[in-house]
Amino acid sequence: MDKLPYRFYDNEREIRFERFDLPSPWINYLSNGRLHAFVSQAGGGMCWWLSPMMFRVSRYRFYNMPIDSPGFYVYIRMADGTVWSPTFRPSETPVDFREAGHAPGYSAFTAKKGGLTATLKLFMAQDVDALVWDLRLTNESGGEISCDVYAYVELSQYLAREENILGYYLKWNTRAVFDKDLQAITYAYTAWMHPRKDDAPLVYFGSDANIASFCCSRDVFCGNYRDERAPVEVQNGRLSDTNLQGGEPCGALHTQVALPAGAEKKIRFFLGVAKGALSDYDKAVAAAKASLAALRETGAADRQFAKLQDWWNGHLDVYQCGIPDEDAMRMINTWNPLQCVHTARYSRSVSSDASGVRGVGFRDTAQDMLAEAYRKPEWAKEMLFYLASQQLEDGHAVHTAWPEEKRPPQDITRSDDHIWMVYLAYAIAAETGDLRFLDKEIPFLETDLVTPVGSATLWEHMLRGVDFTEKHLGEHGLPLILFSDWNDHLGPFGRKGKGESIMVSQQHILALRQLAELAEARGERAEAFDRLIEKQEKALEQFAWDGEWFLRGLDDEAKPIGAHTQSHARIWLNAQSWMVIADACREHQLEAMDSAARELDTGMGLLLNTPGYPGWPSKEAAMVNGLPAGYSENGGVFCQANCWAIMAEALLGRGDRAWKYYKQIIPNEVIKKVGVERYHAEAYAYCSTMLGKDNEKFGWGCVSQVTGTAAWMDVVATQYLLGIRPTLKGLLIDPSIPAEWDGFTVERSFRGCHLTIRVENPDHVQHGVKELSVDGRTLDLARGAIITDDRITNCQSAIVHVTMG
Ligand code: GLC
Repeated sequence: MDKLPYRFYDNEREIRFERFDLPSPWINYLSNGRLHAFVSQAGGGMCWWLSPMMFRVSRYRFYNMPIDSPGFYVYIRMADGTVWSPTFRPSETPVDFREAGHAPGYSAFTAKKGGLTATLKLFMAQDVDALVWDLRLTNESGGEISCDVYAYVELSQYLAREENILGYYLKWNTRAVFDKDLQAITYAYTAWMHPRKDDAPLVYFGSDANIASFCCSRDVFCGNYRDERAPVEVQNGRLSDTNLQGGEPCGALHTQVALPAGAEKKIRFFLGVAKGALSDYDKAVAAAKASLAALRETGAADRQFAKLQDWWNGHLDVYQCGIPDEDAMRMINTWNPLQCVHTARYSRSVSSDASGVRGVGFRDTAQDMLAEAYRKPEWAKEMLFYLASQQLEDGHAVHTAWPEEKRPPQDITRSDDHIWMVYLAYAIAAETGDLRFLDKEIPFLETDLVTPVGSATLWEHMLRGVDFTEKHLGEHGLPLILFSDWNDHLGPFGRKGKGESIMVSQQHILALRQLAELAEARGERAEAFDRLIEKQEKALEQFAWDGEWFLRGLDDEAKPIGAHTQSHARIWLNAQSWMVIADACREHQLEAMDSAARELDTGMGLLLNTPGYPGWPSKEAAMVNGLPAGYSENGGVFCQANCWAIMAEALLGRGDRAWKYYKQIIPNEVIKKVGVERYHAEAYAYCSTMLGKDNEKFGWGCVSQVTGTAAWMDVVATQYLLGIRPTLKGLLIDPSIPAEWDGFTVERSFRGCHLTIRVENPDHVQHGVKELSVDGRTLDLARGAIITDDRITNCQSAIVHVTMG
């Protein structure tokens, strides 16, 4: 296989690229929680404030060619007129050396030409809403170098959807001018119809260097029938000092540099926003001026960068492991928790693939926050409260919401959305040991989907969810699938309103178990939950078993879905794994998971179901909304569903198989097998789906970055494979590991105490703890290998020794 175009530097938590024309943009997100951007290995990218749909700052041409453009571009023009860039794009002039790297919170791009080295570091300032372009030029040529430097960004009309379809009219509402007082370009999109007019930001683009010339018009900067790869104004050497009142805006700034031999110079550009351009223009300008002044202070950019790094180090250090597996360790310690922050921030909405309009998925965000519940429980709580406010009084929840956009949510009733809330509440309670947040009063959402109505505790919200499921059971006592369950495309089986979902039944059981535990911890009775569990278990025992595996559901005519008698989609992964997760139908669990291994494991991920239905124009394609065979829910390797299979195998104590499943969908592992060209997507971030065996492009990673795979891979790795799992009673130590491992270590904070956990595996088992001690005191394992609060109260740190066997 060809040499890989990248290398990981694990100590630096970095990936560095040596080739840049990858099959797709491999992006990194830069953010301070308010202002956000992504940037690719080639320098393409986009910036937005608060919402990628509503306050888009810079443009990105989704789906179009040239791919991955525009971005955050710097041009260097040498005295002889040669133009080159520190990033692979825009200028296509060959350079003597090029490298780029992504790391948590920043990306850095280096190129060398004619003795001049240029490094562009991009990161988001933490205290000011500005993207810092930190450019360092070093002259290694032996003589003086004079050059011109230009920074360029194409600006957007804020409203992504409207810009797409009505931009030709709306562009007459753009105003970009060079403000002499600020020594910066300011830009506003001035359309009165902005739904959050008072917040519409003033965008500014300034520098700490002297500005020699500027341009605010994209078309003037690039020239007729040209593009940002070779802009005419850069070629000319001087920008035209063009202001813009209507048209396609940009920020282009020019500064002149003279570098003596051996000298180094830093130039910073700042792309930022100040709130309120349309409500109080003068105030917004004053705020922009103050921000620029703060950013231009000596050492300010470096201080902001240090602050950013502290944030990331603090976040990642909450859980770090030492395991005898480089690829898995790299994901667990760095890249997976990194991706989880992105999905927690962006749900499924924005990446180089996703154009930023999808809002917050209810079930999606509830799952994403599981990976924050143990690192940033306050953040998880805040999102949980928000989600609860999107639940209707009958107990079901909306499917998608747009909190920043103030758009009414979308409510096509799914059978599962509300259930995911319970798992998040449980995870927060288990992590913190504090149940008071369950009593937080939160309104419901009126059926107009706008007005908050009534108020009930979070606990009551969850009970209403249970109620909803109980009131929507089908003829066999299993939950109706309604529009769909977790499988968005499974709905057609239940369009007449009678189809029932086995996965929702399993989810319901898990939620009831967790609620029962929470009820007890609250000093309440749990019998009501127990009765419902029993009822659901009975229904599953009666109807779920197909002989070798569990069915996925029953359709409108009560015909089984996922049965051996079917020609397509005869077996579904989730129905097997969730039976273990729900801990129901115990006698068949092992056989079901063995069937999943036999029927679904491709060696490069488990198929969601198999065989896929033939794609269009076959008659059957309608059953899966026309998805081609091998893609996504039609016989694809749905990565998120793989996580539940890993979790199930871990719960069954089959560490070897659990790790096999885990390892084989780590992107870097897949790339080692099929190569970068086939896999396409980032080597350091999970995809939603890989094309399955029914597709000739088997192994292609689709929809990367914004996927539920991130949170679940993180949760299964940290809590089920390594098995350091918060429960209401305390921290459970329950590893499921490959038998060949001698042991591993985990550093993890828990309820205020930093734990160093050393696990030894002298008997080379896959599962089971025979001895556990905290700071030398052995624990009685009669009630489980759990570190209860009394073992760690008032201690800053403790050493935990675990012996498996
Ligand atoms: C996508 C959706 C998620 C859904 C899954 C399976 O990941 O974001 O909500 O459950 O597909 O359909």
